[in-house]
Amino acid sequence: MKKCSYFFDFLISHAKVYGFIFPSSEIYGGLNAIYDYGPHGVELKNNIKEFWWKSMTLLHENIVGIDSSILMHPDIWNASGHIDQFNELLIDNKDSKKRYRPEILIQEYVEKKFFNDPKKKEKILSRLSKSLKKKDLVDIKILIDELDICDPVYKTKNWTKIRRFNMMFKIKNEKNLYLRPETAQGIFSNFHNIIKSNRMKIPFGIAQIGKSFRNEIFARKFIFRMREFEQMEMQFFLFPEEEIKWYEYWKNIRLKWHLELNLGNKKYYKLCDHNHLAHYASAGSDIQFHFPFGFQEIEGIHSRRDFDLKNHEFFSKKKLRIFESKKNYLPYVIETSLGLDRLFLAIFSSSLKKEELKNGKSRIVLKLPYYLSPIKAAIFPLVKKDGLPEIAKRIFNDIRIHNRLVYDQKESIGKLYRRQDAIGTPFCFTVDYDTIKTNTVTMRNRDDMKQKRIHIKEISKIIEQETGLKKVLEKLSKII
Ligand code: GAP
Repeated sequence: MKKCSYFFDFLISHAKVYGFIFPSSEIYGGLNAIYDYGPHGVELKNNIKEFWWKSMTLLHENIVGIDSSILMHPDIWNASGHIDQFNELLIDNKDSKKRYRPEILIQEYVEKKFFNDPKKKEKILSRLSKSLKKKDLVDIKILIDELDICDPVYKTKNWTKIRRFNMMFKIKNEKNLYLRPETAQGIFSNFHNIIKSNRMKIPFGIAQIGKSFRNEIFARKFIFRMREFEQMEMQFFLFPEEEIKWYEYWKNIRLKWHLELNLGNKKYYKLCDHNHLAHYASAGSDIQFHFPFGFQEIEGIHSRRDFDLKNHEFFSKKKLRIFESKKNYLPYVIETSLGLDRLFLAIFSSSLKKEELKNGKSRIVLKLPYYLSPIKAAIFPLVKKDGLPEIAKRIFNDIRIHNRLVYDQKESIGKLYRRQDAIGTPFCFTVDYDTIKTNTVTMRNRDDMKQKRIHIKEISKIIEQETGLKKVLEKLSKII
């Protein structure tokens, strides 16, 4: 436990020191559960987005993209059920003035207290599960009292009643205007526009990447649970009678996609069926990932049937149904919903390593998949004299518009290598005295630190082939 929290603290510090993630508004003391992405963070994030986007829209000919607005007509949120049903439970401790989610209080308490008594643990969790299902808030409070659960920090039991709390952010002074809590509604409300403008035929999908906002009371664990975050969602519209076929198809495809990232098969807890379905879902499954604090959901796959389109028809009074082959129906929807920041954390935490070296020293290295690395290659002169910087700069200038590179001569070569290792740069090319005679440079690989000489002309091709998305997309296209 200690080891994991040490690693997590180290990861958060590494992300800040090397320009991946900063606490938002830090100079004013920060803002709970809001983060900013720095120069390397935004590159890594954009590369992840590009990989997901191309996997969806290039590898599936019947999936198109959209970029809908964050602010939407207030009726959208009535139709989607978010105003009435997008609630979390909360309980306050009157002494500490801290706010908790009661089910998490109970789960965490039971995990610790009955670690060696699985039967007792199971019994309590099953009672909790039943009460959650029945929305029996009184029984959940009784459970907290019976178990004698204290505030984890202040150790007192002075609890309030359990209440419901809507997680949408309402915009002040704007009647019924909310920040969207999921990107999906922009897809449902544009469903007919897309059918008409792009002549789409069922089955087809609409993909979108965008910001979502939730007033999470239990926002913790760095970028795992934030109040402002990004989702990569895809809604797949299908014939109702094919619901199960496509649900199974998308569960399978999404898992394969994750495994292709090569973060380690054991890091995935594959597809757990949801016990508590979201209000819009008739079936749901999680892909869980082993984050530094344990297995948690990274992506959800849901069958939303015609819940959204039916309600939008009712509230908007516009016909959204399809007329096809003499049939008149509302398509069902399978949705795949992946948190971009969670995927970032999964990739970052699995790639960050401390390695002991043969010379007794150690190095910190970020072994990102090459195609996701923020910087694809670094170009250095061995020394800052004798014309070497000029040659290195020339190489850099010749190829920098094709790939994100850095030129650096600020420190000794050893330190330059360590810095690139720490941000995950796959290759470093060093110009030395032999370059002047032979037009060759040393190429150093991040992962095994091996070096070899290559001709200057090969640099661009190697970067393109080894760090581009092409190879991985080609491989994926054969699997999915
Ligand atoms: N449209 C369906 C939907 O939003 P969800 O299970 O609530 O479903 C989908 O969210 C994904 O969005 C989650 O699996 C997670 O990766 C990400 N996500 C949800 N809430 C988040 C938060 N507060 N911070 C970061 N990511 C979040």
